Amino acid sequence: MASTESYRSIIHLNGGTWLILALNLLWISAAQSFHVSRQFAPAQPPNPGLSYKTYYFNQKIDHFGFYEDATFKQRYLVSDCNWRKPAGPILFYTGNEGDITLFCNNTGFMWDVAEQLGAMLVFAEHRYYGESMPFGDLSYSDPKYLNYLTSEQALADFAVLIKFLKSSIEGAKDSPVIALGGSYGGMLAAWFRMKYPQVVVGALASSAPIWQFEDLVPCNTFYQTVTNDFKKSGPGCSESILNSWAAINHLSETGDGLQWLSDAFHLCSPLKTKEDVGNFKGWLIETWTNLAMVDYPYPANFLEPLPAWPIQVVCKFLRNPKSGEKELLQDIFQAVNVYYNYTGTAQCLNTSQTASGSLGDLGWTYQACTEMVMPFCSDGVNDMFEPHTWDFQAYSDDCYKQWGVRPRASWITTVYGGKNITSYSNIIFSNGGLDPWSAGGVKESLSDSLIAIMIPEGAHHLDLRSNNAYDPKSVLQARAMEVEYMKKWIQESRNN
Ligand SMILES: *[C@@H]1O[C@H](CO)[C@@H](O)[C@H](O)[C@H]1NC(C)=O
Ligand SMILES: *[C@@H]1O[C@H](CO)[C@@H](O)[C@H](O)[C@H]1NC(C)=O
Ligand SMILES: *[C@@H]1O[C@H](CO)[C@@H](O)[C@H](O)[C@H]1NC(C)=O
Ligand SMILES: *[C@@H]1O[C@H](CO)[C@@H](O)[C@H](O)[C@H]1NC(C)=O
Repeated sequence: MASTESYRSIIHLNGGTWLILALNLLWISAAQSFHVSRQFAPAQPPNPGLSYKTYYFNQKIDHFGFYEDATFKQRYLVSDCNWRKPAGPILFYTGNEGDITLFCNNTGFMWDVAEQLGAMLVFAEHRYYGESMPFGDLSYSDPKYLNYLTSEQALADFAVLIKFLKSSIEGAKDSPVIALGGSYGGMLAAWFRMKYPQVVVGALASSAPIWQFEDLVPCNTFYQTVTNDFKKSGPGCSESILNSWAAINHLSETGDGLQWLSDAFHLCSPLKTKEDVGNFKGWLIETWTNLAMVDYPYPANFLEPLPAWPIQVVCKFLRNPKSGEKELLQDIFQAVNVYYNYTGTAQCLNTSQTASGSLGDLGWTYQACTEMVMPFCSDGVNDMFEPHTWDFQAYSDDCYKQWGVRPRASWITTVYGGKNITSYSNIIFSNGGLDPWSAGGVKESLSDSLIAIMIPEGAHHLDLRSNNAYDPKSVLQARAMEVEYMKKWIQESRNN
């Protein structure tokens, strides 16, 4: 068992960083997949070249009160080269926690279908990310400035922006708008349709864990999904990881052991304290989890380039779960190196650096400490991690320490309906069977127009990435269905 301290920091990681990873690294990777797809599929028509224009819109800082009356500049990007004027549809990306150009450059699916649908593409940046800072450089300096960083304010920004676009762009007045997004952006797309059905005719919510809140799903399903990915990818693989924790704990008991661990893992700074060991284990957990999210069928680029089906490559090193603790941990090191050192250029491994980069980290940590409280737990029996229970009080105390605010765990289900959402319509929930975030996703259709699409061979929002010669059939079928539903919504809105 980990100490309380390390346990907390792991929980904090869960709440704080993982959804970010879901994004920052995934979208970067998609950039590479553009290249890959070009290389392997030269017969495909080229992407429309990512040509877009950048604009800024004056948004109210506070849509829901009248005391703070100031505005800020929200960035948004528009590509209209395929738009069929007048009244051609608008595909509207509900920007999530990061620089909007990242999502624009890397949501290949939207670029791939724009011509077919005659659609204008709009990518709206989420407030407090990228260039859309409500209080400029002060935005993150004090809880009083962060007070307007909520999903509700972000959705209101999107609604106001769309109203403006439809009134100001010639030919857009009657354009049906469809919301799209992945991960947190997928949650926003779904919630946007729920809250503003008069603004968007439908939503594609890809890998959107809208049920990873309160007790809507068991808190251990997330880690079980990670575990299953490793279990499926090689004999002894998940068992090796399971056994590694005891080996690490045992070696951590002595100074010599700590030194050995630091050397064996080529760590940039040696492990000295219990807290260091906790961070080290948290870093390993995060690495396995990231691998589950990016288990794509073709090479992709993250911190470092990754091979196709990276977990299979990792599992080649993890075939001997019963070997001695040092041999086992040397295997673990080789496995981790697939993720951090595939090109062989890493000088040392830095446990305070996962693949997330810094882009959205801070903002998401705040959101996780206010609205986005996602419980996670593991038991070491049905999954390959050490047992950890979900401790809301510890989580809340950490939040208070970091941000001076306390999370409200039941607000999201109150405002967005939890599982009681059948009164809504026209939302596609797509999920990948390999993606741990599918644990909190909608995996079965809830009505004729709340449609679940499962992609068994898919990792995190594979369907939003651009077409690739190595795409499994299931994702091609998913994309085709998504286009059919979008056409249907567009047609229905025209008939009304
Ligand atoms: C997106 O692409 C544009 C144009 O190619 C480039 O200037 C920008 O840096 C890219 N953004 C990111 C985050 O990669
Ligand atoms: C990365 O790989 C290269 C080549 O195999 C190796 O020399 C180097 O030590 C590795 N770096 C780390 C941090 O393990
Ligand atoms: C490790 O990463 C952290 C966070 O990015 C950075 O501040 C630190 O300087 C890095 N340490 C080394 C030794 O590279
Ligand atoms: C959801 O709806 C069902 C049936 O209408 C009801 O029994 C249940 O109490 C509702 N749950 C919540 C959390 O409102």
